[in-house]
Amino acid sequence: MTAIDHDPAVPPASWTIRTFHPRRGRMSDRQTDALNRLWPAYGLDVPDGPVVPVDLADLFGRRAPVVLEIGSGMGDSTAAMAAADPDRDYLAVEVHTPGIANLLDLVDRHGLRNVRVGQGDALSLVSGLPEDSLDAVHVFFPDPWPKARHHKRRIIQPGHVALLRSRLRPGGTLHCATDWAEYAEAMRETLEADPGLVDAYGGFAPRPAHRPVTKFERRAITAGRPVVDLLYRRR
Ligand SMILES: C[S@@+](CC[C@H](N)C(=O)[O-])C[C@H]1O[C@@H](n2cnc3c(N)ncnc32)[C@H](O)[C@@H]1O
Repeated sequence: MTAIDHDPAVPPASWTIRTFHPRRGRMSDRQTDALNRLWPAYGLDVPDGPVVPVDLADLFGRRAPVVLEIGSGMGDSTAAMAAADPDRDYLAVEVHTPGIANLLDLVDRHGLRNVRVGQGDALSLVSGLPEDSLDAVHVFFPDPWPKARHHKRRIIQPGHVALLRSRLRPGGTLHCATDWAEYAEAMRETLEADPGLVDAYGGFAPRPAHRPVTKFERRAITAGRPVVDLLYRRR
């Protein structure tokens, strides 16, 4: 089922409203070296503009279930999950160059062969993926955009969710986590309202052991903000 009401070759104009903050960051020598050495083999450019189709079997050099990690940050979760789950491939997507370089360094240090990283807007990347091609989509600690006038920048909103769901295989999972209570409630309402998704737990999900603790979760715990997980399956 697809609820996409636009030409799939052209991202909708609303996606020009970015879900991320442009930010700069310094890279360590180690990250710079990892980026230079590993980008050609493990990196994927995600251009803005017309959609570029992505052939996942070609990208990973094999046919295996694929997990998409949206906004992989410094890459700690992606690297840890990929290391623990060698039979699935992990496609991370991030805009922040130091984070991408850090993930490539982790890939190198742990000898991971099942990770690729796209640089660019996750929504453009997802538009270029075939329907039914993903085993899971992870959206961990997305920017909460707390001010009401910025809510349209949130990654979890109906049009984006319809796109993500269309790329999941039937039975595939959309897993979100956040420490922002108001966003958690908005996520739940949005995911509940999607006709092609079914809540795997009837409310917020128990924290799964396979989701590694990152600095965002540690910060939330220190500040006393509860972290919630939401797990939905494509019908
Ligand atoms: C708060 S961080 C969380 C990082 C990581 N998931 C974690 O749990 O540690 C959110 C990340 O999502 C990235 N991001 C937000 N929207 C994105 C998009 N549309 N495409 C790619 N990355 C995005 C941001 O650059 C940022 O690094």
